[in-house]
Amino acid sequence: MSFGDFELTVALPKGRMMADAYQAFAGAGVELPQSAGERDLWHGGDGLAVLELRGSDVPTYVDLGIADIGVVGRDILLEAGRDLYEPVDLGFGACRLSLIRLPEAKTPIRRVASKYPNFTQTWLRRRGMVADVVKLHGNVELAALVGLADAVVDVVQTGRTLKAAGLTEVEVLARSSARLVVNKSALKLKRELLWPLVERLRKAAQKTSG
Ligand code: PRP
Repeated sequence: MSFGDFELTVALPKGRMMADAYQAFAGAGVELPQSAGERDLWHGGDGLAVLELRGSDVPTYVDLGIADIGVVGRDILLEAGRDLYEPVDLGFGACRLSLIRLPEAKTPIRRVASKYPNFTQTWLRRRGMVADVVKLHGNVELAALVGLADAVVDVVQTGRTLKAAGLTEVEVLARSSARLVVNKSALKLKRELLWPLVERLRKAAQKTSG
């Protein structure tokens, strides 16, 4: 079968959320097709296609309608600013976006490094703060350690990375967990398929959290 033959396409983030996402769908009675191997970019079965994407690409694929539905962290949605329907907090992948500095840092914040530049800029503006935001792609904590930036905005999950680096979580800026996202047009055009699926995922998530 070719990609276009499937009734519904699901976008999932590679990495730590993938197994939980599969489990969330299984809890809702939907066995998503399994990957055939590491190099498998997409796979399909039983009318469903699954795209394995970088988390930050999930909102793009869902917003542009290539995927009908997806799973992605709220942190990524806050950065992406896409207009998606976000009906269910799936509960797993809990983390926070925090402002992080060296413990002794007292100077005004003039430069902030982050994988979340849009989110960071919006937060700074709301606070009435003026600072440059430098986009980085990984190991963001290093920027605060070596003086690339006066502060960083990054994900804190267990806090182990911060502890190991000797950095301080100055303030929690947002809380995040995995969200179900749905393309707004697909929700109308494929309502018979999508609404029951959303409801089942909602109920399964409530059961897990309750
Ligand atoms: C994320 C984040 C922190 C770390 C936080 O990085 O950027 O560095 O996890 O987790 P912790 O509080 O449990 O230590 P990731 O592992 O995704 O790698 P990256 O820095 O290369 O983006």
